[in-house]
Amino acid sequence: MMQHRALLHTICYRSGAPFQTNAVLPEITVDIRPAAALPYFTITQTDGKTALRYELARHDRVYGLGEQLGGLNKRGKMYRTYNTDISPHQPHIETLYGSHPFLFITGERGFGFFLDYPSEMMFDISHTHKDILEITIPSQDFDLYLFDVSEPKQIVREYLTLTGSPYIPPKWAFGYQQCRYSYPDAETVQAIATKFRELDIPCDAIGMDIDYMVNYKVFTLDDDKFPKFAEFVAQMKTNGFRLVPILDAGVKVEPGYAIYDEGKANDYFCKDEQGEDFVAAVWPGLCHFPDFLREEVRAWWGKQYRFFTDQGIEGFWNDMNEPAIFYVPEKMKQAREKIYAILSKDDIGRELTEVGDTMELFNRREYFKAFSQRADDGRVVNHDAVHNLYAFDMTRGTAEQLKLAMPGTRYFLLSRGSYAGLHRFSGIWTGDNSSWWEHLEVNIHMLISLNFAGFFYTGADTGGFGAEVSPELMIRWMQLGMFSPLFRNHTWYGSRQQEPWSFDPETTAILRDVLRLRYAMIPYAYSEYMRAVRELRPFIAPLFFEFSGERSQQVEDQFLYGESLMIAPVYTPNARGRFVHLPESRWLRWNASRCEDRAMTVMQPDDYYVSADIHEVPMFLRENRLCVLAEPMSHVHEQPIRKLTVLGFVTNAAEFVYYEDDGASYGYRDGQCAELTIRARKTAAGIEVSCEKCEHGYALQISELACEFYDEHGKQFRSSVTL
Ligand code: NOJ
Repeated sequence: MMQHRALLHTICYRSGAPFQTNAVLPEITVDIRPAAALPYFTITQTDGKTALRYELARHDRVYGLGEQLGGLNKRGKMYRTYNTDISPHQPHIETLYGSHPFLFITGERGFGFFLDYPSEMMFDISHTHKDILEITIPSQDFDLYLFDVSEPKQIVREYLTLTGSPYIPPKWAFGYQQCRYSYPDAETVQAIATKFRELDIPCDAIGMDIDYMVNYKVFTLDDDKFPKFAEFVAQMKTNGFRLVPILDAGVKVEPGYAIYDEGKANDYFCKDEQGEDFVAAVWPGLCHFPDFLREEVRAWWGKQYRFFTDQGIEGFWNDMNEPAIFYVPEKMKQAREKIYAILSKDDIGRELTEVGDTMELFNRREYFKAFSQRADDGRVVNHDAVHNLYAFDMTRGTAEQLKLAMPGTRYFLLSRGSYAGLHRFSGIWTGDNSSWWEHLEVNIHMLISLNFAGFFYTGADTGGFGAEVSPELMIRWMQLGMFSPLFRNHTWYGSRQQEPWSFDPETTAILRDVLRLRYAMIPYAYSEYMRAVRELRPFIAPLFFEFSGERSQQVEDQFLYGESLMIAPVYTPNARGRFVHLPESRWLRWNASRCEDRAMTVMQPDDYYVSADIHEVPMFLRENRLCVLAEPMSHVHEQPIRKLTVLGFVTNAAEFVYYEDDGASYGYRDGQCAELTIRARKTAAGIEVSCEKCEHGYALQISELACEFYDEHGKQFRSSVTL
């Protein structure tokens, strides 16, 4: 695939001796200047700290920071970059699992910047002072890459040129994935798979959460629960299901357990202040933590995935890699003593509140300061100083070794923790959200913000991880999930079942239609995803990326899905419609519920309230754009695509490039793919279609196009093209 490698507007402003994070591609050369020369910001450096201050104009908007709560425009809130396992995601929370310190400002003056610094930074974005953006870095060693260009699209392109083009998963990963913490055994997984096929609900993958392991020990599999695993994996695959096991970062302290023994023998674990292997508890109980900063450890770790790839597994999700720490033994001891002391009193009043405070054992900052890692150059660094790289390096090691373990086959990989740059070798999911309407809305903002940061392959736990989902919320969330490249329904063990059939027959029917529509749109989504990667521009983009009108600058709850479609998800309870803004061009409204439905209305640019009953998703096809649909399948590779339906809103001329490759290998990198350029032109006689096929080492199986075009009067033109 062609890459845009030229950095035209990027300069690196360096302060001190920054830790090399590997967020930036090693082959990139950038002009380096001293931080003192940094334009726009006032920089103050005292006591080893740095403050960067920028005065915002009243209507400037600030975007970025990837996985964060809050609005799409980040003004008005305090943010932090310190990867944290945290739940529930309440509005005041300042940091989540990933750190993506890439931002841009647009308005009176536009520019973007990436602060490459792998630990905590504070971003006070018009929180303390309405018009001040203030960044605090507890260090004087960092790189700030300035993208000195005002157009947001170009800023993102510069950022992605610097940090690498987004991860492309195998095509099956554009299908739907069903997950739960946990489907405990093969029998349950089999039953879930059978149910999908029986009910004719498409699905491509089933997640395996921690209960498949022996006592939560990473790289083990409980044979009693999953006997003859390789056979099971193969049989599931024959039926169109991939199994996706979870892997956790902590290694249980247990002599005799191979991973522990090897890690110990080779000195692969992070060290505490006494130079001993650092110990803290996660799911398996007391664990050691591999020192992923070291190449040797990353390689060792990555090779362990062969245990699964040798048994036919092609995808993984790396979890608890911020890293998550439940407690350290000393803290637990103190807490226990304090609690016993309080509880032993006969007369407890206010002291009881202390029990709660004492029990705050999870993920305390002091834990992260209490161990060290060793960089490849032998330097010992306190973990806290490179905290945000832990997941990055774990997943980097995973990806590098998966490429070797699965030669020629694209691996599927998700990580919970992340740092800038991880987008080039893995997708991420956005952690333990809750079944709250607020989180459905946040999901929209995060999808867009994460796309800015190159995380095109991302998605939330659809339906919500914590709390209890209602059928209505489930439907609305699935209607958004269908536009997330990662479309995975996941929830924790204590919540109600969330599989599409777990509610009532009407809900099942609606969810089946949502999923069929998702599958019908995969040819469009995959074509547009690949184009977005090629062109280094967000696959999911805000309106202001395409439209300059005042209203388009403000809209945060609609997005462009590829270049032809705009989506306006419904994200409030009991709604039977919503307000939408239709910018600049005319739009063909398609309130789809079933992929076969065609209730199309031509709408002029303006603001509207549009109806959207519980089974309807407000979608809008842009003027002079096309979109393609296929017959939905039960899973992505069920059969080759032989027929495409071309939907078009054609008032003059439109073009769409349909893209296909084998969806499985890296052949696309050498240009092994096929493109079908579909052109539609309005003439006095109707709408003419023409096609051009371009195949390079990959042959399209499509033999027919069923065209359905609409003109500005909503008049329908149907035709068929034989290829
Ligand atoms: C935390 C993850 O975020 C969640 O998705 C998973 O189900 C649990 N860990 C258990 O593994």
